[in-house]
Amino acid sequence: MDNTIMLSLIFFLPLSFIRTTTSLGSFTSLALNQSLQDGETLVSSGGTFEVGFFSPGNSTNRYLGIWYNNVSPLTVIWVANREIPLESNSGVLKLNQNGALVILNGTNSTIWSSSNNTPGKSSNPIAQVLDSGNLVLKNTETKERNDFLWQSFDYPGDTFVPGGMKIGWDLVTRKEYFLSSWKSDDDPSEGEYFLRIVTKGYPQFFTFKGSKKIFRGGSWNGVGFSGYPTHQLSQYRQRFLMNDKQVFLECDILDKSIVSIYKLRASGLGQTYAWTNQSNTRNVISTGVQDECERFALCGANSVCILDGNLPTCECLKGYVPKFPEQWNISYWSNGCVARNVKSDCVNGSSSDGFWKYTEMKLPDTSFSWFSEILSLEDCRNKCLENCSCTSYSNLYVLDGGSGCLLWFDNMVDMRRFTQGGQDLYIRVPASELDNGRRKKMMLIIGITVGGIIFGLTCACALILRKRGVARLIYRKHYESILKKEEIYLPTFDFSVIVKATQNFSSCNKLGEGGFGPVYKGTLTNGQELAVKRLSKNSGQGLEEFKNEVVLIAKLQHRNLVKLLGCCIEEEDIMLIYEYMPNKSLDNFIFDETRRHLLEWPKRFNIICGIARGLLYLHQDSRLRIIHRDLKTSNILLDANLDPKISDFGLARTLLGDQIEANTTKVAGTYGYMPPEYAVRGHFSTKSDVFSYGVIVLEIVSGKKIREFSDPEQCHNLLGYAWRLWSEGRQLELLDEALGERFTPSEATKCIQVGLLCVQQRPEDRPNMSSVVLKLNGEKLLPNPKVPAFYIERDTIPESDALLENCMSRNEVSITVLEAR
Ligand SMILES: *[C@@H]1O[C@H](CO)[C@@H](O)[C@H](O)[C@H]1NC(C)=O
Ligand SMILES: *[C@@H]1O[C@H](CO)[C@@H](O)[C@H](O)[C@H]1NC(C)=O
Ligand SMILES: *[C@@H]1O[C@H](CO)[C@@H](O)[C@H](O)[C@H]1NC(C)=O
Ligand SMILES: *[C@@H]1O[C@H](CO)[C@@H](O)[C@H](O)[C@H]1NC(C)=O
Ligand SMILES: *[C@@H]1O[C@H](CO)[C@@H](O)[C@H](O)[C@H]1NC(C)=O
Ligand SMILES: *[C@@H]1O[C@H](CO)[C@@H](O)[C@H](O)[C@H]1NC(C)=O
Ligand SMILES: *[C@@H]1O[C@H](CO)[C@@H](O)[C@H](O)[C@H]1NC(C)=O
Ligand SMILES: *[C@@H]1O[C@H](CO)[C@@H](O)[C@H](O)[C@H]1NC(C)=O
Repeated sequence: MDNTIMLSLIFFLPLSFIRTTTSLGSFTSLALNQSLQDGETLVSSGGTFEVGFFSPGNSTNRYLGIWYNNVSPLTVIWVANREIPLESNSGVLKLNQNGALVILNGTNSTIWSSSNNTPGKSSNPIAQVLDSGNLVLKNTETKERNDFLWQSFDYPGDTFVPGGMKIGWDLVTRKEYFLSSWKSDDDPSEGEYFLRIVTKGYPQFFTFKGSKKIFRGGSWNGVGFSGYPTHQLSQYRQRFLMNDKQVFLECDILDKSIVSIYKLRASGLGQTYAWTNQSNTRNVISTGVQDECERFALCGANSVCILDGNLPTCECLKGYVPKFPEQWNISYWSNGCVARNVKSDCVNGSSSDGFWKYTEMKLPDTSFSWFSEILSLEDCRNKCLENCSCTSYSNLYVLDGGSGCLLWFDNMVDMRRFTQGGQDLYIRVPASELDNGRRKKMMLIIGITVGGIIFGLTCACALILRKRGVARLIYRKHYESILKKEEIYLPTFDFSVIVKATQNFSSCNKLGEGGFGPVYKGTLTNGQELAVKRLSKNSGQGLEEFKNEVVLIAKLQHRNLVKLLGCCIEEEDIMLIYEYMPNKSLDNFIFDETRRHLLEWPKRFNIICGIARGLLYLHQDSRLRIIHRDLKTSNILLDANLDPKISDFGLARTLLGDQIEANTTKVAGTYGYMPPEYAVRGHFSTKSDVFSYGVIVLEIVSGKKIREFSDPEQCHNLLGYAWRLWSEGRQLELLDEALGERFTPSEATKCIQVGLLCVQQRPEDRPNMSSVVLKLNGEKLLPNPKVPAFYIERDTIPESDALLENCMSRNEVSITVLEAR
């Protein structure tokens, strides 16, 4: 039964680009002297794979290949005659009388044969393609599952298929298993790129272009490869076998409903494709487009590549300095770093050296390293100290808190810092350097998660270092120096990424207009949403605001402050990139006829408390002591959960040390929210923010705009109206009608009282934010509020023009420059 041709009764739907003949035979095996014509296919028993002749891309040449049955587009995983194409449809695959698989052309010449590889003549062989994608030649009598006379898995092409294939070395026969790219999409012959395991030192993965290493996937760490931020996915299981006889990577997909394969494309990019058995449409899940930090040894020796947004930056390791500082200054890094002129006192393995710990690292090239699977981290450290040329150490494996030991000698090459998923690396530094460094502040890192790498097999990549204009480089340098001085590491996004994300700043993506320029919604290709603030070129505030905002906000971390994700600088365009707030700003809710109904009392109370906590952090809890200076409802953003986040730090000022107030000759802010001492005299303090907060609280409670409300009876502004109701004991009449009866009177009264306390005329009467938070929590008794600022009795004349201006203007945009009188 086994050695007879099984002519399947099922005729698969013809795929026009494969089948060019009308003969549509499908077989499950090929026996001695039997052959497969062009147009016929050999099908695996479960129907997953087909073997037959096909033409790749636009080529008309015919090749024998293995592909996924019924998956579109055509997904070929292996090609037999990749170097010698057939020029017509007259090719035949045959199991010849010697028991070898051969491809014959129209004149019966053998153009490809498995014979060189067949160990011996077999009495009764058959050829089959298995459901793993392996085309095998085996003895019909053989019961052993894996005892094949020949198998295609021993001759990998450009594709790695989990579940049986392996990459690496048979150390006994010195046979290497590696991937090689196609020449082009039209030509499956061996191209320029190779994915190989190099066994020197501690074995590692590399992608080669010809004989040149272009990417290092790194070494096995027990879970994955150190070149990838590893998160072991439950669907996959990778194994790395390493002993005297072999060094192999194998991979299984545990979830059988998923298909996932890896291709080393002709461009040198490694791509992962995946689909499920439900949909037979193949998707690319990892384009293999990596960042420039992936380029092998981009930063030269003893230097770490750090990706900020899309751009790589190199940083010398602790105790090392650029070999050529002039080159380093123009972002030419490949000559790397050398040890600073501080001599280690290491003699005969005895020294006072210490180690500097780096976290989240891609470990250096292990080609010249020493390793032990049994040493502990402590022993590893001692082992390194014993040898004066040892420069760093780390654990070999990461599981269970780490085990084993890796040592590096002399130069360390090809390191990078991940935002997450990297390993710890300990760099040896002279004792003197260590003391210096300990006193230095930690660098702040705002990470953007590198897009998850789904399939653990290494991705290869051809990286084209984009040529950037020197002018732009210098311009960037300016900002970089600001950030460096402030010890901020802020990711930089590539302009093209932002253009794409915002559909070229299309007006339908516009979220609003701030004092310094428009804000757009952006969506990255991975679906992440951003808010992009494009600082207006002619506001004259670009530089200043950029600096303020970046320097301040990058250093602040609080759940009630909006998060800055990065920036983007293109020519003179400066953009700040924030987390996206789906519910936009508070004024969009409280002043909107329909949305105000969504803000029930508990939400409003939560927002009032959240803003207070954010402001308390700015004023007191952050190490910077910051006055926001432009608090208003349109600068309070709401996240998906309607939790408030304070934004727009363009006008913010830091105060030094214990200083709590300052003066400015430039008054900036928004009328209505500015207290009198600031609007009139330019005098600002944390109490100016407290005033603005009070205004916001009263707006939230009443649903009325400070700028538009006027008391029907008394021509009071909102503050005056609120105070009048309060003093008459009718304060609950202030509440937004949209709330109806659904509120907690005690909370509402507390909020109104806090609001009125915050907007009192004299700054010293206003509470500070810590009292506000305590009062809102009910932990502190509330005094009776005095008359608010801007309380104008009907017959009094405004004190100054500024006050008059304050009463008349309906302009709600931040006033950016106003000379104080
Ligand atoms: C095939 O040719 C078309 C038209 O020339 C071209 O757009 C396409 O990229 C080609 N496809 C491949 C795989 O070479
Ligand atoms: C295969 O063909 C050869 C030569 O034509 C013949 O000697 C041999 O018996 C054939 N084997 C089978 C199993 O048909
Ligand atoms: C078959 O291959 C032989 C040897 O390579 C060649 O001389 C011959 O022209 C080929 N025939 C066809 C039809 O391609
Ligand atoms: C090739 O071999 C087949 C089967 O042995 C035979 O029928 C055919 O005539 C041969 N063709 C040529 C061109 O020799
Ligand atoms: C997909 O694979 C799962 C697991 O092997 C199997 O249970 C299910 O029947 C398959 N579905 C289809 C449509 O083949
Ligand atoms: C490198 O740039 C910094 C600041 O941009 C400057 O202070 C330093 O002198 C430059 N070094 C060299 C060698 O050009
Ligand atoms: C280093 O060790 C060697 C051999 O143990 C010894 O001969 C030499 O004197 C030592 N050198 C110093 C400076 O201690
Ligand atoms: C230090 O390690 C290097 C590299 O393994 C080795 O060549 C050298 O002999 C070692 N030196 C000592 C003193 O063990």
